[in-house]
This record gives sequence, C-alpha cells and structure tokens, in this order.
Amino acid sequence: MDISKDFIVIGSGVAGLTYALKVAPYGSVAIVTKAALDESATKYAQGGIASVMAEDDSCDLHVADTLETGQGLCKEDVVRIICREGPARVEELIQMGARFDREQGSGYHLSREGGHSKHRILHATDFTGLEIERTLIDTVKAQKNIEIFTHHMVVDLITLAQLDASIVPGSSRDEALGAYVLDEKSGTVKTFIGQSIMLASGGAGKVYLYTSNPDTATGDGVSIAYRAGANISNMEFFQFHPTCLYHPDAKSFLISETVRGEGGILRLKSGDTFMEKYHKMGCLAPRDVVAQAIDHEMKTSGDDCVYLDVTHLEGVRIRERFPNIFKTCKKFGFDLAEQWVPVVPAAHYMCGGVAVDLDGQTNIKRLFASGEVCHSGLHGANRLASNSLLEGLVLSHRAVPKAAALKDDGSVLSQRAGQIPPWDSGGAVTSDESVVVSHNWDEIRRLMWNYVGIVRTNKRLQRAQRRIVLLLDEIREYYWKFLITKDTLELRNIAVTADLIIRGAMNRKESRGLHYNLDFPDTTDPKEAGDTLLQDSTPRLFTQKETTNHE
Ligand code: SIN
Repeated sequence: MDISKDFIVIGSGVAGLTYALKVAPYGSVAIVTKAALDESATKYAQGGIASVMAEDDSCDLHVADTLETGQGLCKEDVVRIICREGPARVEELIQMGARFDREQGSGYHLSREGGHSKHRILHATDFTGLEIERTLIDTVKAQKNIEIFTHHMVVDLITLAQLDASIVPGSSRDEALGAYVLDEKSGTVKTFIGQSIMLASGGAGKVYLYTSNPDTATGDGVSIAYRAGANISNMEFFQFHPTCLYHPDAKSFLISETVRGEGGILRLKSGDTFMEKYHKMGCLAPRDVVAQAIDHEMKTSGDDCVYLDVTHLEGVRIRERFPNIFKTCKKFGFDLAEQWVPVVPAAHYMCGGVAVDLDGQTNIKRLFASGEVCHSGLHGANRLASNSLLEGLVLSHRAVPKAAALKDDGSVLSQRAGQIPPWDSGGAVTSDESVVVSHNWDEIRRLMWNYVGIVRTNKRLQRAQRRIVLLLDEIREYYWKFLITKDTLELRNIAVTADLIIRGAMNRKESRGLHYNLDFPDTTDPKEAGDTLLQDSTPRLFTQKETTNHE
C-alpha cells in the first residue's frame, strides 16, 4: 500500500509537531510515529525551555553559557542563531496556548539549571514537556492538511541510490524519496512517498541499561539515517543526567536539575557535600562535571548512590513547584520535605546525531532532521540544560522554507516513484526464537553501561566493539530470516546506535565534555579535535525478499 504526501514527518515530539504545523500550509503532511501521538521524550521534559526573557539576561550571555558548556565544539553561528531566534519561537508556542508559570506580577517565573549564569528556564511546574506536547497536539489536530499515523514505525528510508546503482549513498546526487513503514497493528509494511522527509524521532537513551528516557528512545532516526548514507557526527557525546531516582522500581525517574536550581544540595551518605571540590558552580556545575563527580564519589566510597537534599527548603514551596517529582518520590517512599532522596546518574541525552546545517538539511537531498536526532553543532561536547526544546523549535521552523522550496521542483520523484518496489518479505517467517531479541537487547544495554558509560578506557571500548560486531551479525541474520516486528526493528536500531557510539568514542583520542577516556585524559586544541564523522556509503538492498535472494 502506498501513501503519498508532500511532506513526511517521522516523530511526534516538539521538533516533529512544530515542523508539521509550520509546513502544513505548503502541502499535505503525514506524521509517522511509532507509539501514541503524545509518546515522546518531549512529554517527559521537566526542567523547561531556556530562553532569554529577563531584564538582566541577554542573548550574548546565553550564547556564552552554551559555548562554555560545549567545551570548544559548539558551532558558534548555530549557537547564536538558536539563542537569538529562540525567544520568538517560544512566544509562538505561548500564542498557541502553552501556559508557563508566572511570577506574582506579570512576568514569567524563570528557573536556573547547571551551567546557566542566569535564571532563564521557562517551565510549567515540572510538567513542562507535557504542557508543550498538549499545546502542539491540540493545534496539529485542528489542521486539515495533516494526517497522523500512530503505531507506525519506519523500517528504512528509501533513497535514489537504492534505485540507481550509479549513485553512491549519501553522495551529492543522492535524494530521499520515502520510507518503508511497519503498521504495527496489521503487521504490514507500507510505502510512504514524499517530496521531503523530516526526521524528528528523538534520542537513544535505551541503548544504556539505566536511562531517564521513555521506552521509545531506541535510536531509530540515527540508525535509519546511517543505513541510508547520512553523515553522523559526535555520537560519543552521550549526556548522563546526574540525578535520577535510585530505586529498583523507579525506572531511573528524573529529578530535574531545577531542583538544584531552587537550592537542592548533593550529599554523600555521611552528609558531606562534595561538588565544591569539582567546580566553582558547585551543585549547579554543568552536567558532565556533576555526573563525573558523582561517579567518582560512588566508585571511591563503594556506595550505590549519593543523595539530594531539599529538606532545608520550604515544604509547601517544593510541593507546589515540583508536584510531579514530589508525588513520584513519595510513591517510592521518599518525602522530599523530610528526607534526602537517593540519586544516581542515568543516560539522558544524545548530543551527537544526524549532521545537519542551520536549516536542518542533511547531506542527503530532501532529508531533514531536527531535535535530539540531529547534530546541528548547538551542543558541542556537552549540552547546556534546557537548550534542546529550543533547538527543536528553531531548527524545525528554519527547515520549512527549504522543504517548501523542494516541493514540486521537478523532482526525480515523479519519474522514479513507479520504480520503488513494494515491501516484500520474501521467505521470512514468524519467529519462534524471540528469546534472541530479549537476550541481545539486554546484552547491548548492559555492555554499553559497563564499557561505554561515564568513564571510558581503550580496553573497555575495544571489548564493547568486539561484542557489538558479533551482536550486529547475529541481529542481521535474525532480521532477514523472520517477519519484522517493532521489537526486531528496535533491537536492530539500538545495536546500530551502540556501534556508532562506540566507534565515535574510539575515534576521539582525547577527553572532552561528556567523553572521558582515562587513556586520553587531556583535552586537545578544539581546532584539531573537531567532530567525529561516520558514514556508510555501501550500496544496499532493502526489502527482505531481495536480500534473502542475494544471501
Ligand atoms: C532537567 O529537568 O533536569 C532536564 C532538563 C534537560 O535535560 O534539559
């Protein structure tokens, strides 16, 4: 079954929905999302959106904080544009109906997080992402031009290089034409064809054993883009959030950095504070510093966690400002007003991704990316807290004129659409070995946590690489033999993403920001360090039948 639209959007968080809304006046739009429409990392964002709103703040200060946190690898032009254009995009969100917390008078209440020199985080108590997602979904649903395909998961992109052997994948002649998409409910694979494709499928926290991310964060976008020949940059920079609730049943529930912004203090079991030893900003140091400090303290003491203490703050204030965090901690037996809460770091944000320019354009014509899946150069070697929702808003807005200009530009699509083969599963059968999926899933997440976590060494990375090569082989074989399901697609995607992170980490011969390797402890000159780049230009076949026939 073919679905043909002018614009295809993959993902339904802040980046995908913003883009869909803004591009809809130019043509028909399909939003393809693998779970329910509101199920994205955006929904779970607690802290908020960094945006210059206060009298004592300025775009230059926001730029300076972002550059400082990014440790020499931010692209300054990108940082300047996102910080400068961000407030106007936030204002549009407010006009759409997003309600952020206000001060008693008329201004907004602005929080502070690690690495920020000013209070500049707009928020809706600690349900900020939920409020943004609600606003965008209400607006999207009112649009006639947008069709939503929930529980549809992209298998692979369809590109010109797959139809024409003379074109090298990812080269300047390559173009994105569409995507094969699994309809999870019927089990069929549909062909989506579009004049351009926006990848906004979020991050990959599920690559690690412990993560603050929702279950949907399986590196789908970066993995399908890589398989299509897109440039992938800086995957070694994976941000670990320092404070996730330490409890066996809490699934690494995030305790927002804004709790420290309101005065929360990190303590060891003894009650001693420690962050002042590591950074002049103490508990509000950038995240890489706090996560590495906690990791170091836990390894030194042998303790399983450290503690976050807000008992010196007014209980009512904590309950009102952080209703979600307060209630969740209480559910797990911790009363924030009375007790310290046990916290540990967990994988939180993929700072690398599909390389894009200032308008979200990848190296493949007609393929755009925005939000966590992309690497624009905003975050550098470490993301400044609450800059990500802003990046999604700005890049998705900037991509629209480019994508609109590509529509009906005499594209090859009209000549080539008829040549795109429908998905054919060939001799694939229903799996009777699902244990392979669950076993490999656990193995990847555990090996990434143990060998490619907060502190790395060459030996650990080599071990990780040896294992991921074997796992990728096994997964490849399984993938082509059995009818695909969402689980097999996610497994393949976390394996590819893990491999990209490991190779990025092996290619970076220094320590910087989120990448800390004991065998290369020094930070080199940023001009020499640059970005790591991975690209696969191997020609490949796509539907199962073709591949089965060729193996
Ligand atoms: C937090 O609330 O601590 C997370 C915010 C972010 O990751 O930007």
